[in-house]
Amino acid sequence: MKKIALTLMLAIASLGSASADSVIKDVMKKDFKPEDAIAKKVGKGAATDAELDTLIQGIEAICAATPSKGNKAVWEEKTKALSAALAKVKAKDASGMSEWKKAVNCKACHDVFKGK
Ligand code: HEC
Repeated sequence: MKKIALTLMLAIASLGSASADSVIKDVMKKDFKPEDAIAKKVGKGAATDAELDTLIQGIEAICAATPSKGNKAVWEEKTKALSAALAKVKAKDASGMSEWKKAVNCKACHDVFKGK
């Protein structure tokens, strides 16, 4: 019994690390890059509450993943700033939008965390 449990745990642990970086790519391709991506709608004040929730969940997923370069603690700080700003946008707190625009700077984040 013990052995089976251990094997299972190892299998789950290796699955987790294999998909970690593709999580970031997937969220970038779906919610950041397209012309109608939710991340772009937020800046125009055009994202619905449901879209904001989707984006917050995506950002929480990339926060838990490890980028191909850069410091993991700084990564967590940066991604948490993004989700915190979105939570404020959703709550109609006026400071949320300016915090979001500052945090969502594509190039500033890619320079530090995006490999090749
Ligand atoms: C919080 C940091 C961060 C922000 C902000 C960010 N990105 Fe990214 N992005 C990344 C990282 C890290 C990668 C590299 C993922 C990897 O290869 O593991 C990436 C990769 C990408 C990719 C390549 C995906 C692929 O198929 O490999 C695209 C496209 C992209 N980002 C678009 C954007 C756009 C557009 C914005 C701004 C609206 C943006 N990103 C903002 C961190 C960020």
